[in-house]
Amino acid sequence: MEQETRQINLALIGFGHVGRAFARLLIDRRRWFLKEHGLECRITGIATRGHGTAIDHDGLPVQKILGAWKKDAGLGAFHNGPACASCADFIRQCGADILFEMSVQNMKGEPAASYIREALGAGLHVITVNKGPVATHFSQLTRLARQRDVRFLYEGTVMDGAPVFGMVRHTLPATHIHSLRGIFNSTTNYILTQMEQGAPFDAALEYTRNAGIAEADPALDLDGWDCAAKLSILIQALMGGKVKPGDIERAAISEDTGRRVRAALRRDRRLRLVARAYRQGGKVVGKVELQELEVFDPLAAIRGLSNILVMNTDTMREMAVVENDPSVEQTAYALFADLVSLL
Ligand SMILES: NC(=O)c1ccc[n+]([C@@H]2O[C@H](COP(=O)([O-])OP(=O)(O)OC[C@H]3O[C@@H](n4cnc5c(N)ncnc54)[C@H](OP(=O)(O)O)[C@@H]3O)[C@@H](O)[C@H]2O)c1
Repeated sequence: MEQETRQINLALIGFGHVGRAFARLLIDRRRWFLKEHGLECRITGIATRGHGTAIDHDGLPVQKILGAWKKDAGLGAFHNGPACASCADFIRQCGADILFEMSVQNMKGEPAASYIREALGAGLHVITVNKGPVATHFSQLTRLARQRDVRFLYEGTVMDGAPVFGMVRHTLPATHIHSLRGIFNSTTNYILTQMEQGAPFDAALEYTRNAGIAEADPALDLDGWDCAAKLSILIQALMGGKVKPGDIERAAISEDTGRRVRAALRRDRRLRLVARAYRQGGKVVGKVELQELEVFDPLAAIRGLSNILVMNTDTMREMAVVENDPSVEQTAYALFADLVSLL
């Protein structure tokens, strides 16, 4: 007897670099879902800030929407559902089982946190790659998800699809993390390592903007805020600390940092923007600092857009996860992996 195909309805808030890469990945893995899970994933709603909103409870024609996007068309032509006056309306009307939150980050985490709250409250699972709401509203959102018996997943907020939260949750049971350190911001690491090779600051920044890697507001990368937000999520999710991004001492990088990069190089050392967290007197402390590292330090070997997390644990001692040269495809894969973990 043939197995009946189940359907799962997905809604997307944000259809930028990440949202579109995720939509392409879902199309690409359609047969895999059918074969492995007897499942069809339908996107029943997409909401944006300036490109409009579309709902269709039978499933939106995503391939056509991606084609139309290249011609800079909005979503209006694909809307075939109830009218929505706001994103809250969209969440209530989109008919989805899972909401993917992929709008732009800012330091307050809003309005993304309100969208997530609305969705969890309405009984939807939520998956996000947006650091702002996770870092600034971590306890409230995880508590709400527990109360509503739904999942709130955020693997892509740190090191894209490289397993960090899933790895600790599923493969490091009963492990206590004493401390951690790493390089978590691709934009600043790319700029620092390009300046090591003599490239100008502006050209390196421009490259990350064109590649869709820099934040919509690159100041969030350059002033260390993006890195602090990621460190705050790691501390809250993995170390049980109550550290918000604003509690984290931050260093920034600018054109002037080039002098320090070259001075470090002359001493055969490497300048990196290092995020670290450690325990002190029953609390967890987080710092984002420009550090001159010895060349044999694993963090010094992290070049370009690559990232690294090194954890010091009571079970596995020191262990590291490295992500080499990520792009938005790896961020989209984080959403995909979180989705599969819900099935
Ligand atoms: N790019 C990466 O490599 C990467 C890596 C890890 C995490 N992230 C995170 O992923 C998220 C999306 O990044 P992205 O590169 O895709 O950004 P993006 O290209 O700027 O796209 C952002 C999308 O969100 C929509 N949007 C913005 N504000 C909104 C609001 N208030 N309500 C509803 N929709 C809103 C935008 O609408 P319009 O289309 O109308 O402008 C756009 O569709 C960010 O939180 C970012 O930090 C990105």
